[in-house]
Amino acid sequence: IEHFARDDRLVGHRVLITAGPTREPLDPVRFITNRSTGQQGFAIAEACLAAGAQVTLVAGPVNLPTPPGAARIDVETAAQMHAAVMQQAPAHDLFIATAAVADYRAAEPAERKLKKSAETLSIELVRNPDILASVAALSERRPFCVGFAAETHDVIAYARDKLQRKRLDLICANEVGGGKGFEADDNALHVLWDAGGVELPRQGKRELANALLDVIIERYHASHG
Ligand code: CTP
Ligand code: CA
Repeated sequence: IEHFARDDRLVGHRVLITAGPTREPLDPVRFITNRSTGQQGFAIAEACLAAGAQVTLVAGPVNLPTPPGAARIDVETAAQMHAAVMQQAPAHDLFIATAAVADYRAAEPAERKLKKSAETLSIELVRNPDILASVAALSERRPFCVGFAAETHDVIAYARDKLQRKRLDLICANEVGGGKGFEADDNALHVLWDAGGVELPRQGKRELANALLDVIIERYHASHG
């Protein structure tokens, strides 16, 4: 680990990160997913490794190489991501949830390919577990919890609501849609906590990951006395 470290701010600290989309099958050849390349999460993993952290990356289907030094767990569905994260979380000090988790999955994925027939088709969807809220609700060995909120409108208000509702330590909000955020090369973030916040201006995802990590580390150390 020391081999990759630029500094020692997170030496001895274990960071769990979710990244990428999840994929919820409708039948053996079709699925519902979210727009996400996983870049932001992988860049944060790299920044954590550079600060000397031990990093576990739980990744949905993405086309990205594993950052050297990270332990990677590949998953496909939200249920699989939830199971992997709940198993790993108690052994980590920080949890950073960057994944674009599908909010719903098919109630009963078809075992055989759906054939087209009628002009309209309805598929019943059921809610997926909220991975971040589940970790933040742990009563023992609860890591410091950092969430993301991708919003198309009322960014700050929705993000503050998520911070409180999910009982997070920190939330990073960004505006998406219209070429912003997902699948864009650069991004801007509003980082919010209970008693404050800071704006990180539009920049490349790698620089943004480093700037964000500075804030996360500051808040994390502040909350651990
Ligand atoms: N998240 C999660 N598990 C889910 C849904 C979201 O861990 N099932 C995490 C995301 O990784 C992100 C944060 O929760 O860090 C907020 O995700 P977002 O989709 O913005 O919030 P939701 O609570 O799903 O609300 P909505 O989609 O209705 O805005
Ligand atoms: Ca959602």
